[in-house]
Amino acid sequence: MNLIAPSLLSANFLNLEADIEMVNRSEADWFHCDVMDGRFVPNISFGIPVVQAIKKKAQKPLDVHLMIVEPEKYFEAFAKAGADIITFHYEACNHIHRAVQQIKALGIHAGVVLNPHTPVSVLEDILSDLDVVLLMSVNPGFGGQQFIERTYEKIKKLRLMINEQHASALIEVDGGVNTKNAKAKNAKALFEAGADVLVAGNAVFKSENPMEVIKELKFFK
Ligand code: DX5
Ligand code: ZN
Repeated sequence: MNLIAPSLLSANFLNLEADIEMVNRSEADWFHCDVMDGRFVPNISFGIPVVQAIKKKAQKPLDVHLMIVEPEKYFEAFAKAGADIITFHYEACNHIHRAVQQIKALGIHAGVVLNPHTPVSVLEDILSDLDVVLLMSVNPGFGGQQFIERTYEKIKKLRLMINEQHASALIEVDGGVNTKNAKAKNAKALFEAGADVLVAGNAVFKSENPMEVIKELKFFK
């Protein structure tokens, strides 16, 4: 699957509506919403009221990436705000199995996020319960960082694990994803390595033609 999830972290917060409408009209598949608490990551972004506002205009699923400590305390609030997918960090939760069931009980999709240093093998016994595995290809906290090349190996290993277990989790990659026109082009190679969903913040919103970039990321045009 070749899905694109533009990250609104890099959108224009003074006119979020215009950027949401652009994504609605584009070939993008999901809205990626980065929630940061200043504790799990060294940055603070936006929270529940903003996700609720985005939901009013978004015509595609909201993929809410929680970079917060004690994420399980907020699943219900983000589901009520309109999240269609909630992903939370392996490194921020001691009871992954319970947390995944909590999200699913809210009637939405559940995913686990791995930081660059966390091996995919930690998911071996939970993989078949997951709708999404999000692999961080930068250290979480900021947009516009450099892609970590080691991510390709992680995607390939995870793809093997998913195939072996006949699991259906989508592989999502987040951080430093770019198009063929950029210096660090990698979207095509990431899909070829086995990724299903690519998140892109700066590549989309800091470009002169965001809709065209979304098309390039998705179809390698
Ligand atoms: C980083 C966030 C990413 C970020 C990606 O902590 O999880 O979603 O917005 O931004 P780019 O694509 O600019 O690396
Ligand atoms: Zn993210």
